[in-house]
Amino acid sequence: MYRVALKNEDDFAGWRKAARALALADIPPEQVEWQVGEGGDLFAGEGAGAAPPDPPEGAEFSVPRQFMTLAEDAFAHPDKHRFEMLYELLLKVRATPRAIMDVGDPLVSRLSAMALEPRLEALEKRNDKDAALAELIVEAKDCKRCPLYKDATQTVFGEGAASARLMLMGEQPGDQEDLAGRPFVGPAGQMLDRGLREAGIDRAETYVTNAVKHFRFEQRGPRRIHQKPDTSHIEACRWWFAQERVLVRPPVTVALGGSAAHALLGRKVTIGRTRGEPIPLKDGLEGWVTVHPSYLLRIPDKTKAEEEYGRFVEDLKGARKRAKELA
Ligand code: URA
Repeated sequence: MYRVALKNEDDFAGWRKAARALALADIPPEQVEWQVGEGGDLFAGEGAGAAPPDPPEGAEFSVPRQFMTLAEDAFAHPDKHRFEMLYELLLKVRATPRAIMDVGDPLVSRLSAMALEPRLEALEKRNDKDAALAELIVEAKDCKRCPLYKDATQTVFGEGAASARLMLMGEQPGDQEDLAGRPFVGPAGQMLDRGLREAGIDRAETYVTNAVKHFRFEQRGPRRIHQKPDTSHIEACRWWFAQERVLVRPPVTVALGGSAAHALLGRKVTIGRTRGEPIPLKDGLEGWVTVHPSYLLRIPDKTKAEEEYGRFVEDLKGARKRAKELA
């Protein structure tokens, strides 16, 4: 059994150093006991055991950046099992780097939730919610939580006041949003604006955002063709929209299309079966689901397009009415 003595609860550097040495020596998680004690000499503090054997000459490994981000964030959670959970995940990710994107893995999912919790608690306590939103925007500019940042021009964060009573949530920025750095400013945005006007909603009084904050596309010649985000992109971006939601706490959120509904409800749904009525959310607020405005732009038949647009406006009117009732 190896016993590691971390200096204190926040000794991430100590955890990292010990985890690295243990992983290099291939020590399985069940043979490591993590403690927080005085000393600070990792394997020689009070109650600490022998240091793991020296790794073979030149033994090295690296893990995806997403693991280190998750580890650092989850470290701030008070759960006493975090040290061993992170070590277990480190070994997994070293063997299979893409395991860090496997949101169906209970370890990844639990650690991701733990990473968010201290953040959300701190934001809930802030009185200056708009200032907190502004800080988030700055922080999100450097987001590398999933690989989409590599090809996108910039992070497209949500837009609006923390006092907004209605949140509108799309899928991800499109080509024009990616260039402008603002959500829903391209053709889908114009369709959304038209629907909002007709439903009597002032966009300036809403908070408009996307489930995923970077544009995912495939380059075909000069054109950038939209690609749906994967569940792993939505889950990585939960970091941002969970924080947006805690700061805005809109009584009503309208998910525009399937990806947004998936992100908001935490499960895949059929729009036709879910639209038009309030859906209670885990955070105690209310969700509504409708089609994505770009779906309306793609309907070739004029009569059908008008019909579908009418239903879209009705959904928005329903959400507006509820937001008023709950205000
Ligand atoms: N589609 C979206 O889902 N969001 C945007 O911001 C633009 C297009």
